[in-house]
Amino acid sequence: MTHNPSIQTFEESIRKVLNVAKSEKEIVNQIQPYFQSLLQNEGLLPESYKQPKPNKYSQFLLYKPQDEAFSIVAFVWGPGQTAPIHDHLVWGLVGIYEGTIEETRYRKISNDESEVGFNLEVVETVIAKTKDISFVYPPNADIHSVRNPFNDIAITIHIYGTDIGKQKRNRYASETYAMKPIVTSHENEVPIYHM
Ligand SMILES: [Fe+2]
Repeated sequence: MTHNPSIQTFEESIRKVLNVAKSEKEIVNQIQPYFQSLLQNEGLLPESYKQPKPNKYSQFLLYKPQDEAFSIVAFVWGPGQTAPIHDHLVWGLVGIYEGTIEETRYRKISNDESEVGFNLEVVETVIAKTKDISFVYPPNADIHSVRNPFNDIAITIHIYGTDIGKQKRNRYASETYAMKPIVTSHENEVPIYHM
């Protein structure tokens, strides 16, 4: 584990926001400028982690404090790699660190005739480039899918309001929207950075 002063500064800013923000929407809005600064730092994800796995995106824990009030995680997306439709059940920010990804955001709409009692409606699909930031937060801005349809590797850095590697949340089947509980663990148990 390594010490990283920019992550320490970022933690101080997050703590201040968490003390004053009154909603998850306020949290993500207020963290955004600090996150933008964090994304300017080169080398947040060491080179040795950047090689994509052959068949699935990789998820590395960069840092979490002892109280797990938040986590900073890096994802490496090889060409064609996808995260199917899922929720988070906690606030989060997604920053593009290198390359470009495509994100499709969904909203739940009730539908008593569907098998699961709701449908998912596409809100929008966005192409997010290096330094772009997007948000997720429950209940209405929490469901999305992410993919790298491009030929280059993409690296995204995410902040969540808990250790997302332990968070119990859901995946949604693409046609029926059937929910399946998931936990997506980090590849590394020991965070790359410590304070
Ligand atoms: Fe996500």
